[in-house]
Amino acid sequence: MLRKTTADLIRDCRRGVASIAIACPIFGFAMPTYAADDLVIADFESKTYEPWTVTGDAFGPGPAEGTLPGQMSVDGYAGKRLVNSFFEGDRTTGTLTSPAFSIERDYIGFLIGGGKDTQKLALQLLVGGEVVRSATGPNDQAGGSERLDQDSWDVKDLKGKQAQIRIVDQATGGWGHLNVDQIVQTDTRPVGPIRNAKRNFVADATYLNFPIKNGADKREVTLLVDGKVAVVNTMELADEGADWWAPMDVSEWQGKTLTVQVDKLPESSRALESIELMDERKQSDNLYAEPMRGQIHFSPIRGWNNDPNGMVYYKGEYHLFFQHNPYGWGWGNMHWGHAVSRDMVHWTELRDELLPDEMGPMFSGSAVVDWNNTSGFGKDGEPPMVLFYTAAGNPTIQGLAYSTDGRNFTKYEGNPIVGEVTPGNRDPKVIWHEPSKRWVMVLYVEWKGKHTVHFYTSPNLRDWELASITDGDAPGGRYLFECPDFFELAVDGDPNNKKWVLTAADSVYAIGSFDGKKFTPEFERLPGHQGRGFYAAQTFSDVPESDGRRIQIGWWQTDTRGMPFNQSMTIPLELNLISTDDGPRMTFAPVHELETLREVTHDLGAFELTEKDANPIDQIRNQLLEVEVEFEPGDAEQIVFNIRDVMVVYDPQSERLHVDNHSAAAPLRDGKQRLRIYCDRTGVEVFASDGLCYVPLPFNTKPENQRVHFEVRGGSIDVKSMKVHELRSAWKGH
Ligand code: FRU
Repeated sequence: MLRKTTADLIRDCRRGVASIAIACPIFGFAMPTYAADDLVIADFESKTYEPWTVTGDAFGPGPAEGTLPGQMSVDGYAGKRLVNSFFEGDRTTGTLTSPAFSIERDYIGFLIGGGKDTQKLALQLLVGGEVVRSATGPNDQAGGSERLDQDSWDVKDLKGKQAQIRIVDQATGGWGHLNVDQIVQTDTRPVGPIRNAKRNFVADATYLNFPIKNGADKREVTLLVDGKVAVVNTMELADEGADWWAPMDVSEWQGKTLTVQVDKLPESSRALESIELMDERKQSDNLYAEPMRGQIHFSPIRGWNNDPNGMVYYKGEYHLFFQHNPYGWGWGNMHWGHAVSRDMVHWTELRDELLPDEMGPMFSGSAVVDWNNTSGFGKDGEPPMVLFYTAAGNPTIQGLAYSTDGRNFTKYEGNPIVGEVTPGNRDPKVIWHEPSKRWVMVLYVEWKGKHTVHFYTSPNLRDWELASITDGDAPGGRYLFECPDFFELAVDGDPNNKKWVLTAADSVYAIGSFDGKKFTPEFERLPGHQGRGFYAAQTFSDVPESDGRRIQIGWWQTDTRGMPFNQSMTIPLELNLISTDDGPRMTFAPVHELETLREVTHDLGAFELTEKDANPIDQIRNQLLEVEVEFEPGDAEQIVFNIRDVMVVYDPQSERLHVDNHSAAAPLRDGKQRLRIYCDRTGVEVFASDGLCYVPLPFNTKPENQRVHFEVRGGSIDVKSMKVHELRSAWKGH
C-alpha cells in the first residue's frame, strides 16, 4: 500500500469519530449496453482465464469474484467476475494475454480501474507484437477508488488486422494492481465518463456555487486561475438535482479567467453547466434560520467544521478560525474557515483563509500577536497576527502565515518552519513565554510508538529548536493525543500561585510547572469535560491583560443531517483552577458575554420544592434556554429537570449528575449545588459544582417540544435561587 498521509489517516478515523456516512458504492455510470453485432473479446465470467495465457501470479487462478481480501470495495464491473490483479495484494506481478483475433469493428471498449502507471499497469492492444494502444487505471495516490469505468480505443485505422490484448501488472507498490472487464468490439463508441471536463468563467461576481449531492461519487475539482492551478478539492458533485450549493469565494480573482476542471464526469452529467457564478451564496435565503441551525453556537454557513483553530484577540476582535470543508457535509478538503466577533457570541463568518496547497490540506493550529515584531512580519508599526498550521501532505510539516489587518493573510515563503518529525505530527500551538523571552511551540508527535508533545522554542517565530519531549512512558503521558494547548492559570485567582496546564484533544489535561523548555507535570491525565461530542478545544491567545481570562472553545460534534452545514462549536468557556481536596482542578464556566442573549427572564426566587409540588416552570416555552439554579438538596432522592426531552438528574446521595445517559461526578460545594444549563436546537451544555463538572451533550431537539419541567423525587429541596432565561438567537441581525 502507499504510505497513508496524515489526511488519509484522519479521514479514516473521522469516519468513526463523527459517525459520518461513508459514500456507498453506487453505479454512477450507465453500465455498457452492447449492440447485437458487437463482438465480445472477453467478459471474464468463467472460473479460469482459458483460453488466455497467464504468466506470474498477479491474476490468481481465474477471474475474481469482485473484491479480493484486503482490497477496498471494487465496483463498476459487469456480471459476477472481472480481472483483478490484487491477487495476494499489490506485490504480485504477471501478464494475461488473449488469443489472436481480427479487428472488425470501429472501437474496442473495456472497463478499467485500479492503479495508474502507464508502463507497469497497462491494458494493451498488440498488433504484430507491438503495443498500438494502451490504457491504465486512474489511481496513484493513497485513498482513491477501486471503481472500474468505461473506456475505449478508436481502432478504425487497424480494421482487418490480427491483434491480441495483453494485461500487464509489473507494479508492486501502492496501487500496484489493475482491474479490467468486458472487452468488446463495437461500432458504437462506448459511452464512458468524460475526463478532465472543463468550464471557463470570467470572475465578475463573488461566488462560484457548486451543486453538491451528499453521498455522490467524489470528484477531483481543480480551480485554475488564468491557467494556473489555484486549489484542488474533492466534491460530491451533483450530476443533477443538488442537495445544496457550496459557494467558493472567488472575489480575490476578479477579472481573471477561472477554469473549473473535473477529473471525471458521466457524459450525461449536468454538474459543470449548473455551476453558477453570482454575487450570492445560492439558496441561502434562510441563512441562520434553518431548522437545525444552532442559535447560540457558532457553525459554518456551509459545509463541515471540526476543530477551532488560530483563536486570537487582535485589534478589538476575537478571531475564530476552524477546520472547514466548504464543499462537503463530511470531513475533507481541510481549509481554515474564519469568523470574527467582538463578544465571542455574535460571529461574522468571513471567507476561508488558508486553502489547501501543494504542501497539503491545512490542518489544525494556533495564532499569536507578535507585539514586538520579532518575526519582522509587522508593517508600518502594526504588530502582525501570525497563524501556525499543519500542512498534512507527504511529508507533514508545520507552516505559518501572517497578516497585519486580520483580513488578508500571506503564507510565509520560508515554510516549512518545522519539518516532519514523524508522519502525522501536527497541531502546533504557539505561545509567548515571558520569563525566557522566547516563543514556545507545543506539537503533537507520535514518537517511538507513543503519543508525545514536543516543545520547541524560537526567538522570532521562524526558526525553531527542539527543547524537550514529554515522557511517552509516564503514567498517562502517552495519552495526550492531538491538538495540545498550553497555558498558565492562577489557582483560586491568586496571581502568585500560577500553574501550567497542558490539554489534549479529548480534554484530558495535566497540571505542572514549566521552565521555558520542559514541562514537569504534578498531576497527570485529569479528565476535562464529562459529556460527549466535545473535542480539540483551544483557548484564545492575547486576550487583553486587563481582562485576564483564559477562554476556551471546543468542537461540538452536533450532527445536522439534511442541512447544508454540519457540526459546530461549543459556547465560549472560561477556564480556571480551583483548589479541591485532591489538589487544583480545572473549572469550566460560560463566559459572561452570553448574558446578552437573555430575552425574557423568569425569576422564581427562593422556594422549597417537594415531591408533591407541581412543575414550577410549566408555563415556559422556548427552544433556546438558560437555566440557573442553586439549591440545598435536603432529603431529596433526585432533583430532576427535563429540558426539551433531555433529562438532567442530580443525585445528592452519590453527588452525581446524569445528563441523558451520561453520568458525571458533581460534588456539592458548601452543601449546595449550582447548575447552569444551556439549551440550543443542537443540544445542551450543563455546568455543575462551580464548573468542576461540565457536560456538553449534542442531540437534535424536536422543534415542537419546547417544554421544561422541574421536579423533586423522594423529599424536598431548598431552592436558594432560580432563574430561567428565554434566549434570543445570536444570529439575529444577520
Ligand atoms: C483533530 C484533528 C487534528 C487535525 C485535524 C484535521 O480533530 O484530527 O489533529 O489537525 O483534526 O482536520
